[in-house]
Amino acid sequence: MSAIKKVIQVDPDRCGGCGACVEACPAGLLALEEGLPRMTREDSCIACGHCGAVCASGALLAPKSSKAQPELPAGPVPRETLLKLLDVARYAPSAINSQGVVYRVLDDPAQVRRVAQCVVDWAEEGLASGRLPAYFQATVDRARHSGEDVILRGAPALVLALVSPESLRGRDTARFALTYAELFAPSLGLGTCWAGYLEACLASGWPPLEELLQLPRGLMVGGALMVGVPDIRYHRLVEREPLAVTWQ
Ligand SMILES: Cc1cc2nc3c(=O)[nH]c(=O)nc-3n(C[C@H](O)[C@H](O)[C@H](O)COP(=O)(O)O)c2cc1C
Repeated sequence: MSAIKKVIQVDPDRCGGCGACVEACPAGLLALEEGLPRMTREDSCIACGHCGAVCASGALLAPKSSKAQPELPAGPVPRETLLKLLDVARYAPSAINSQGVVYRVLDDPAQVRRVAQCVVDWAEEGLASGRLPAYFQATVDRARHSGEDVILRGAPALVLALVSPESLRGRDTARFALTYAELFAPSLGLGTCWAGYLEACLASGWPPLEELLQLPRGLMVGGALMVGVPDIRYHRLVEREPLAVTWQ
C-alpha cells in the first residue's frame, strides 16, 4: 500500500518565516526554505495538526485541515496575581508623596483585543488625514493583513495607571509606579510591555477609545502597560549603548 501524501499549505503573504511550525512538528518533518516552511517527508506525517495550531498568523494549513482554526484567547492572568503586581507599584516614589495612582485593569483578552483594534482604526485615520507620520503605515498594514495584534501583542491584560491632571508631576508618578510593576513582573512569572501606541491614541482623545474604556471622569491616563505570561524566554542580554558618565 502506498503512503498517503500529507501536504501543508502556506500563505506566503501571511507567513513571517518564524519557524514555530518547524519546531512544533513532533516528527521533525518541516524545514524553512527561502523563509517559508516546507514538508520534507510527506509519507511520515501523522497529520497531528500541530504545525497549523502553533502558527500565530494563521498562515499555515496543516495536512488534512480545510481551514485555519479560530485563534485561542491568550491565557488570562489571575486577578490575584495582578493584584500582587500592583501592590508592589504602591511603593514607587511619587512627587511630594502625592501617591494617588488609580489602576484600571482590563483582564478580558477579548476586550483588550477590541482596544487594540480601536488603536489600529485611529492610526489608519491619522494616516489618511496626515496627522500621523508615514512610519505608522507599516504597523497598520501588518495589523490589517496578518491579523496579528501589533498594538498590544496579544496580551491578555492591560493596566492603565490613572492620575489626577492636577497632581504635581502626576504623569511621572504613574510611570514610576508602572516601572515598579514592570520590574517585579518576572518574579511573578509575568512579562510586561509599555503600550506606547495606545498611550498616543489616548493622548489624542480618540472618541471611540474613550467610549470603549469608559474611564472615570477627572482622571487622566499617565501610563499603560500590557501584562501577560511570556511566550518566549530570552537567554542573553540585548546590546545597549555604552554607559555614559561624567564626573565632577
Ligand atoms: C514609553 C514606551 C512606550 C513603548 N511602547 C511600545 C509599544 O506600543 N509596543 C511595543 O511593542 N513596545 C513598546 N515599547 C517597548 C520598546 O520598544 C522597548 O523597550 C525597546 O525597543 C527596547 O527593548 P527592551 O526594553 O526589550 O530591551 C515601549 C517602551 C517605552 C519605554
